[in-house]
Amino acid sequence: MQRAAALVRRGCSPRTPGPWGRSQSSAAAEASAVLKVRPERSPRERILTLESMNPQVKAVEYAVRGPIVLKAGEIELELQRGIKKPFTEVIRANIGDAQAMGQQPITFLRQVMALCTYPNLLNSPSFPEDAKKRARRILQACGGNSLGSYSASQGVNCIREDVAAYITRRDGGVPADPDNIYLTTGASDGISTILKILVSGGGKSRTGVMIPIPQYPLYSAVISELDAIQVNYYLDEENCWALNVNELRRAVREAKDHCDPKVLCIINPGNPTGQVQSRKCIEDVIHFAWEEKLFLLADEVYQDNVYSPDCRFHSFKKVLYEMGPEYSSNVELASFHSTSKGYMGECGYRGGYMEVINLHPEIKGQLVKLLSVRLCPPVSGQAAMDIVVNPPVPGEESFEQFRREKESVLGNLAKKAKLTEDLFNQVPGIHCNPLQGAMYAFPRIFIPAKAVEAAQAHKMAPDMFYCMKLLEETGICVVPGSGFGQREGTYHFRMTILPPVEKLKTVLQKVKDFHIKFLEKYA
Ligand SMILES: Cc1ncc(COP(=O)(O)O)c(C=O)c1O
Repeated sequence: MQRAAALVRRGCSPRTPGPWGRSQSSAAAEASAVLKVRPERSPRERILTLESMNPQVKAVEYAVRGPIVLKAGEIELELQRGIKKPFTEVIRANIGDAQAMGQQPITFLRQVMALCTYPNLLNSPSFPEDAKKRARRILQACGGNSLGSYSASQGVNCIREDVAAYITRRDGGVPADPDNIYLTTGASDGISTILKILVSGGGKSRTGVMIPIPQYPLYSAVISELDAIQVNYYLDEENCWALNVNELRRAVREAKDHCDPKVLCIINPGNPTGQVQSRKCIEDVIHFAWEEKLFLLADEVYQDNVYSPDCRFHSFKKVLYEMGPEYSSNVELASFHSTSKGYMGECGYRGGYMEVINLHPEIKGQLVKLLSVRLCPPVSGQAAMDIVVNPPVPGEESFEQFRREKESVLGNLAKKAKLTEDLFNQVPGIHCNPLQGAMYAFPRIFIPAKAVEAAQAHKMAPDMFYCMKLLEETGICVVPGSGFGQREGTYHFRMTILPPVEKLKTVLQKVKDFHIKFLEKYA
């Protein structure tokens, strides 16, 4: 008994007969008897409980992978077990993960990654010379010529140089300095790191962070985690989700009563709303940030995803410089890009960068210090970022194939953006603004009063109730608008346009049929 108890205490199981000649099973039975009485004897409670945990972490919500996605997982398991449903598969249109939706990787990017990962392939005739050249350059800049080594905390030097050269080209010659480039673990890491540095103060002087509503929920999640003050500014749904500077003025004026608004976050092109900001609007925002002494965060991860023929992507950095030295030497700006979106959709590599402008030199030191605690972003992600900013150019062996693949992905996305807008707008009780860019539709849905009551009875937000029903009846997984924020009394959902065209058509038809039935049921 004593021995069994001791073994249990040490986390061992008694396998062989002991010196007292008792059988394994009798020792196990004794051990289990000990286990049964253990709670009474234990002098210790768990240290980490829901009550004792960090309340800021508990407050974090992230709708894109929230309850609806857990439910989708349960339904998938039920389907695997042969349980009959009115559909045969779950379609995960909840997250902007292109390759999970069947998008083919860009060949050149994967070739360079394969070469960097397994350099013996550099001797293989199956790989083009331009891919080998990129891979050799990246490997030569890595410790021990290996992707498996740590890099500098700010990122591999030559990759930061390539990022700076890309930004300079993109912005028509406005110079970028590699010293201002920080390679990150996806854009998420850059955004949360810079917010971490920005948030300070207590009470009324706690940092206020202005974010668009609807927003990408990384922002509200990081703000909760840092115990900063979220300051909402509403995008104008009646005007294609445009950003209105008067609304920024209202938001900052009201926020000054209870916090110190210090940061203004912009998502352009927008997620979940898909709007692309005009140059004039960006100028107005920069002027506003200058006037109100706000640090600008420009989330530009969808910079390659612009579909409306009358829209163009303008980077905040370029517009800032074109507005003259009063702005370009004063306004503090951090902008973000990623390997996850665009035409490559390499979310899993976790590649990203951030460019900072007008950051105080001492703060740069603090930033590197903070980044160095995590050692470095994944070097494979840095390499993927390098290929995005340094793709094949005309005259190189891989250029034609690269161009074809890139245009095919972006061309398909543009078609799907229009298809989605047109189809949603044919459904009574659904209104969808044009998807000017990014990868999502965020249609407004009419939810009848009886459905709102039914949702309340289930203790659910009305749009969560709608999305749960949609999932249960059709297998389509979308995210309720309440996870992104929306004006009181309005309801939306977010759906990606990433499924292949034919599948997307089926998805849209199913949503249409579901919506019509839903309206009838709760009329
Ligand atoms: C607007 C926006 N910013 C940032 C991110 C984070 O991207 P990642 O961390 O994969 O680069 C996303 C991802 O969907 C996004 O939509």
